[in-house]
Amino acid sequence: MKQVTAVLIGAGLRGDHAYSSYALSHPEEFRVVAVAEPDEKRRKEFGKKHHIPEAMQFDTYEKLLSLEKTADCAMVCTQDHMHYEPVMMALKKGYHVLCEKPMSPNPGEILRMGKMAEKYGRILSICHVLRYSPFFVKLKQLLDEKRIGQLMSVQHIEEVGYWHHAHSFVRGNWRNAEESSPMILQKCCHDMDILLWLVQSKCTRLSSFGTLTYFKEENAPKGAPLRCLDGCVHREECPYYAPAFYLEHPKAVADRLVYAVTEDIRKENVIRALREGPYGRCVFHCDNTVVDHQVVNLEFENEVNVSFVMSAFTKECVRKINLMGTKGQITGNMDEGRIEVYDFVSGNTETIQIHSASTGHSGSDECMMRDFVRQVAEDGKSGGRTAAAASVESHLMALGAEQARLRGCTLDFSAWKEELMESC
Ligand SMILES: NC(=O)c1ccc[n+]([C@@H]2O[C@H](COP(=O)([O-])OP(=O)(O)OC[C@H]3O[C@@H](n4cnc5c(N)ncnc54)[C@H](O)[C@@H]3O)[C@@H](O)[C@H]2O)c1
Repeated sequence: MKQVTAVLIGAGLRGDHAYSSYALSHPEEFRVVAVAEPDEKRRKEFGKKHHIPEAMQFDTYEKLLSLEKTADCAMVCTQDHMHYEPVMMALKKGYHVLCEKPMSPNPGEILRMGKMAEKYGRILSICHVLRYSPFFVKLKQLLDEKRIGQLMSVQHIEEVGYWHHAHSFVRGNWRNAEESSPMILQKCCHDMDILLWLVQSKCTRLSSFGTLTYFKEENAPKGAPLRCLDGCVHREECPYYAPAFYLEHPKAVADRLVYAVTEDIRKENVIRALREGPYGRCVFHCDNTVVDHQVVNLEFENEVNVSFVMSAFTKECVRKINLMGTKGQITGNMDEGRIEVYDFVSGNTETIQIHSASTGHSGSDECMMRDFVRQVAEDGKSGGRTAAAASVESHLMALGAEQARLRGCTLDFSAWKEELMESC
């Protein structure tokens, strides 16, 4: 296989650690030759790590993409609302593109990105990494083998975890739908996508309910200050009290959440960052707008019905699924890597233990990169699992669910989609 070259747009957590790290572990397959990143420290560190000459380091994607095409592919790893422009520019320049999810919060932009990839005959792969996770790959295989006969119903739960929700969706980068995107898109487009993949049919109708109920002003305990460190008297009984949360909470410590608060994690530095930065705010006094719990019901053309629940109010951060078929039932817990297959005829239950890597989304990030690099090396001659067409569909399912929630209606998804397609 020839070595594939790439340019990176956005050398943040995903662009640097999740995807470009593939170039460091597989240098014979993949090399990053240019980077666009406005944060000087990040840009320089990234450039050094990947031996990128200064002339190929840029502070914005516009500068990088205004040059002649300099690599086989572009990886677009900027924040949610900043994928559309660089993806369109890169496709026009002839790059194959890897784009972070969500493609865009705007349905028209999502459709145009898909059309642009088609027009220029380029790969547009969206980072729906779950399609590469050993857990969902096994579930797909069991369904394809008809181990439970014909699939009839699906119950899927995304337990966000109360600590994870507070960190990312109340205090952090994804708290505000206007700045990032609605929860059902930014967090759950993975779930809509995996459901589309497992059900293997088109979604026809959707309904949804959900609200931001708990993490808001009126639920603040009496006298709670704007910042935890401003003498909050509720610190002993509040699970979100920032200093304890970031320095001692077992889940937050295991997930290294403190690195989002500050890069220098010495205690005095963390305390200073909590006094001044966004992560020291009282969870009831933030500018968050995304829902903290939501349900979506989906009907598919093949008459499979799906019920999906997303909730902040859970102990674990885990996805659980229950697949109900005419000849059996499959239940799965992604975090535990456990799948149980019950057969109605024999009455037997088979337990399957999935062994996943401990790195990036249980090894899915690396599997997805391997597949993307292979596709680019073959110049897009063979399809990929996360191609634009499927991702456009699942993104629209998420935005359709948001429409159904906001309008308080059951959305005729097929008609809504057709209208959108006509208008763009
Ligand atoms: N696939 C997944 O499972 C998954 C998981 C987490 C996050 N994400 C998504 O990945 C994306 C990036 O998330 P992240 O955590 O890496 O964010 P991040 O903030 O760490 O990285 C984004 C980077 O883009 C840079 N940037 C800003 N403006 C730019 C410009 N004009 N040109 C070039 N770079 C620019 C920022 O300086 C930053 O370094 C988001 O859309 C997020 O929703 C996906």
